[in-house]
Amino acid sequence: MNELLNNILFLPEQASTFAERVDRLHYFVITVTMLSSLVVGTAAVFFFFRYRRRKPNQATEYVVPSVKTEFLFVSLPLVFFLTWFVIGFRDFVFVSTPPKDAMDVYVMGKQWMWKFSYPEGPNGVNVLHVPANRPVRLLITSRDVLHSFFVPAFRIKMDAIPGRYTQTWFEATKPGTYQILCTEYCGLSHSKMLGEVVVLSAEEWDAWVKEQRKGALQNRQDALADMSLEPHPARMAEQGQKVAAEVGCFKCHTVNGEPHIGPTFLGLYGRTETLDTGRTLRVDEAWITQSMMDPGAHLVAGYPNVMPTFQGKLTGPQTAAIVEYIKTLRVPDIRTDASQGPVYEPIQ
Ligand code: CUA
Repeated sequence: MNELLNNILFLPEQASTFAERVDRLHYFVITVTMLSSLVVGTAAVFFFFRYRRRKPNQATEYVVPSVKTEFLFVSLPLVFFLTWFVIGFRDFVFVSTPPKDAMDVYVMGKQWMWKFSYPEGPNGVNVLHVPANRPVRLLITSRDVLHSFFVPAFRIKMDAIPGRYTQTWFEATKPGTYQILCTEYCGLSHSKMLGEVVVLSAEEWDAWVKEQRKGALQNRQDALADMSLEPHPARMAEQGQKVAAEVGCFKCHTVNGEPHIGPTFLGLYGRTETLDTGRTLRVDEAWITQSMMDPGAHLVAGYPNVMPTFQGKLTGPQTAAIVEYIKTLRVPDIRTDASQGPVYEPIQ
């Protein structure tokens, strides 16, 4: 049934855990709406003949439907729409909540290519290597204009926005090569902004990572020598620390837990901060990035709004590197109640 509908609707193959969920809802909606259209259409044609004017001056009878019929006509479609909403909402929550053990990959769109960097090492242009049957979280941003990251076979699509990180995730179900498209008109070569996801089996993945590491070690010194170069294969956190020192983050932010002119970086990621507006906010990649680009947007309570913007001063990869660096600054378990928030792991 799945395969039949897949063919009738000319859908791309299903290669992620999310694809089947999306398609199931799609099939449900399209089957019900097509059948309803058929019933309505057939009835219209039938009535057209059945109730045609037979004699001149014959008036059509005035029909007042019963409350029961009215109720049926309103409630039946409503039940369907609400059911679709519930299924769709559950799917939305599913695709918006990456599993905790997901592997992170940074994705940067620029006119006109996709760049991928892994916190642990290798980088890639237009080709994203991932293991099969393992959740992968994508942290997506753009260096210039709006782009949109779309993998039809995975049924995932997410905007790439300059100065901000958006996220989505997927778990590929079978090894193979899948098309990446840009689905936001971004200039002359928008239609050529293509890439591919190469899904590797567990063994192939291990071999690939090993190979990348070998190359990474050789290139690390060169890469560290020039931070403005990208893509480079050195570890992102390591670069991040260096960039942060260069641009002067440490003049106002400590890494030992003591508040200074700005909040300390230690344990910042994942912490729940109270803002000057009284709102609370869980610190994530998006907030850290926004605070670099537009520091006053969400100010942590008790700190002055004195930080300059780094919009245009940091490249996409540099920003990502600083975010990765801050993420490594964890404090040993400071909470006793895990339900209050994340429990930090000891520093390695
Ligand atoms: Cu990038 Cu269209």
